[in-house]
Amino acid sequence: MSFDLPPQTTTPLLGLGFSVPDKQSLADYYVGKSLNQVRTPRLVVDRAVVKRNCERLGAIAKRQNVKVRVHVKTHKTIEATAIELESANTDAIVVSTLAEAFYMIQSDLVKSGLLKDVLLGLPISPDKFDDLFTLADQVETISIFIDHDQTLDALETYYRQRFGEDTNVKVNVFFKVECGNARAGAAIHNEDSLALARRLVSSPILNVKGLYTHAGQSYACRDTETAIAALQSERDAAIAYQAYLRENGIQIEACSIGATPTVMAAGLADPSVLQGVTELHAGAFAFMDRQQVATSLAADADVAITVASRIASRYPERRSILLDAGALAFSKDPAPQGGFGEIVGKEHWKLNKVAQEHGVVTEVPLEDFADAPVGKLYQVRPNHCCLTAACYEFFLVVEGGEQIVDVWVPVRGW
Ligand SMILES: Cc1ncc(COP(=O)(O)O)c(C=O)c1O
Repeated sequence: MSFDLPPQTTTPLLGLGFSVPDKQSLADYYVGKSLNQVRTPRLVVDRAVVKRNCERLGAIAKRQNVKVRVHVKTHKTIEATAIELESANTDAIVVSTLAEAFYMIQSDLVKSGLLKDVLLGLPISPDKFDDLFTLADQVETISIFIDHDQTLDALETYYRQRFGEDTNVKVNVFFKVECGNARAGAAIHNEDSLALARRLVSSPILNVKGLYTHAGQSYACRDTETAIAALQSERDAAIAYQAYLRENGIQIEACSIGATPTVMAAGLADPSVLQGVTELHAGAFAFMDRQQVATSLAADADVAITVASRIASRYPERRSILLDAGALAFSKDPAPQGGFGEIVGKEHWKLNKVAQEHGVVTEVPLEDFADAPVGKLYQVRPNHCCLTAACYEFFLVVEGGEQIVDVWVPVRGW
């Protein structure tokens, strides 16, 4: 079916004057300083913890005998991607924006052979096809999600305009299906999805790489048993759907499932739990946060990032302390433990209110004020690492202590 294509849009990273901050200039200024010498708020990444988390991910995949695909949207940096690929022993990533795709593909990660396989982790809107085909020439494999007929209509129309009747160039596609998260993905066991799956596997321009589900619902788990059950239920839904497709003459062999809580659960579950699954994917795993601690599968010590912030003022009469970091430093994402973050070493303080640049700590015991002068620096464990990291143009990197050893620059925008 022909589709009325929208105009093609461009990733601003490509020659429109938009670029990321210069790492070298930032490193020249920050490396060697201690956290107490830098302007706050600022995101601090403990590289040793990132590495340990990614090694854990690699060990889980090895134990379960599956491939890993790391979602780099959590940090959007080349350095953390390199750690993930090396430590988790993979060459495959998911990105959530084309800016991330360009940034990673045009970095040394591809040249060095570390990165070979990129998946755009959001169903692609048809204004972005030009950039998709530009990227396809720069990396071994780039794949997209399709979960709706119209996307395929649009792609086929675009493809015909670009390549005519020639079908030599194949577009790699994962069939994104919904197994409990109700965010993206086609409904399973539904006539329209079955028709779409049939179109996908019979299209001469597509190479169908597998089913893909994402268990975002597993963030609600509060113990190992429910996390293993969530993993099992996602796996069962995906594998049952694969079997249903097969009964209807549609072969989609590979199956990629996961989210950080269920991937952590896979580290504890019997290997049979993943029977039929070929790939696990995780993103927040690299950084972790209070939401992951709330699942009970990660500990405070696994959280690799904190927000460095200072006491801007103090109000003993209302047992309150004001931080120089607010919603633009922490994000407004909640965590089951309450508050907008947790102050390391002062876990009994409550960061209960944030405005744009204000963080309001309440319930501070009177005796704590003696050691809490204005200007004092604290590190705050964030609720959701992806959203908190997204607040910063660059990250200060430490390795266990307070001394800055590197600066990582994420890519921003779309
Ligand atoms: C498509 C897709 N895959 C994988 C992930 C990784 O999930 P998590 O960060 O829970 O590991 C996400 C996160 O939103 C996602 O959207």
